[in-house]
Amino acid sequence: MAKREVDDVSGVETTGHEWDGIRELDNPLPRWWVLVFYATIVWAVVYWVAMPAWPLWNSYTTGLRGHSDRANVASELTGLQTARAPMFTQLDATPLAQVGSNADLMQFTMEAGKAVFNDNCSTCHGAGGQGAKGYPSLVDDVWLWDGTVDGIHATLQHGIRSGKDEARFSMMPAYGRDGMLQAAQISDLTEFVWSLSHTQDVNRAAATRGAELFATNCVSCHGADGKGDPTFGAPNLTDAEWLYGPTKADISGQIYEGRGGVMPAFGDRLSPSQVRAVAVYVHSLGGGT
Ligand code: HEC
Ligand code: HEC
Repeated sequence: MAKREVDDVSGVETTGHEWDGIRELDNPLPRWWVLVFYATIVWAVVYWVAMPAWPLWNSYTTGLRGHSDRANVASELTGLQTARAPMFTQLDATPLAQVGSNADLMQFTMEAGKAVFNDNCSTCHGAGGQGAKGYPSLVDDVWLWDGTVDGIHATLQHGIRSGKDEARFSMMPAYGRDGMLQAAQISDLTEFVWSLSHTQDVNRAAATRGAELFATNCVSCHGADGKGDPTFGAPNLTDAEWLYGPTKADISGQIYEGRGGVMPAFGDRLSPSQVRAVAVYVHSLGGGT
C-alpha cells in the first residue's frame, strides 16, 4: 500500500481523497461512538431473544419474556371488571328507585349509565339526550310513556313498537291517509289542537268544530282534556313539547299520517346491569322525579 500523505498542520494521515484542493483527514472514529455502536448491536441481539421480534410464517418469535400488549390489555380489562363487579352486584340488588339514596352507588351508576348512553342511545336521542324530530328529548320531565325509573327501565328493556310481545305499543290511526277523516275535518282538528296551547292565531269556528271531532275520535288516547295518556304513549297536546314539530303543518301532518316511533329493545343487547344503569341515568336527566 502506498504511503499516504500526512497533513502538515495536524500530523494526521489523509484518506487520499481530494475535492477542489480540500483533503480529508483520516481520523479514527471517536471511541465513545464506537462503543455505543457495538452496544446497540448487543442490545438488538438481547432484544430479539427476550422480546417478540421476528415474523414467522404464521406467527412470530414470542421471546423469552413472553411479552404481549394484547394479553396486558385483556388482563387490565379483567381487572377492571373484577374491580367493578361488587358495584354492579350492589346495583342489581338495589331497587332502582332507591339507588339515589346511596351516594357512592349513584355516582358509579351515573358513570356506567352515561357510558352506555353514549355508546347506544346518542345516535338517536342526541349526545346529551336533547332529542330531535321524532326522537323524544330525554332531558326534560315530559314523558310519552311511564316516566318513573321503573317505567323507563321497562321501556328500555322491551322497546317501543319494537315487535316484541312485551314492548310498549299503541298506534294512532292515519286519519288522512286511510281516509277516516276528510281534509276539512283534519284542518278543523288542527285548529282545535293548536288552540289547546295557543291563544293567538286561532280560527275559533274551526276549533269549535274540531273540538267535536276530537271528542269522538281522539279522547280515547289523548284524554278528554288533551293532556295525553302514558299508557298509550299519547303525548300531552296542551304543552309546548312537540315530538313531531310545533307548527300547524306538523300537527295536521301527524293527524294525516299517524306516525308511531320505534325504539329498539335493549334487553337482549345490553347486560341487565347496563340496562339498570342507563335507566337510572336517563331518569336523572329528566330531573329524577
Ligand atoms: C334507533 C333509534 C333509537 C335508539 C338507538 C334509542 N332510542 Fe330511545 N326512542 C326512540 C324513539 C323513536 C322513541 C319514541 C318512541 C315513541 O314515539 O313512542 C324513543 C323513546 C325513548 C324513551 C321514552 C321516552 C318517553 O318520553 O317516554 C326512552 C326513555 C328512551 N327512548 C331511552 C333510550 C335509551 C336509554 C336508549 C339507549 C339505551 C335509546 N333510547 C336508544 C329511538 C331510539
Ligand atoms: C290509539 C291512540 C290514539 C288516538 C286514537 C289518537 N292518537 Fe294522536 N297520538 C297517539 C300517539 C301514541 C302519539 C305519539 C306517536 C309517537 O310517539 O310516535 C300521538 C301523537 C299525536 C300528535 C303529535 C303530538 C306531538 O307531540 O308531536 C298529534 C297532534 C295527535 N296525536 C293528534 C291526534 C288527534 C287530533 C287525534 C284524533 C283525530 C288523535 N291524535 C288520535 C295516539 C293516538
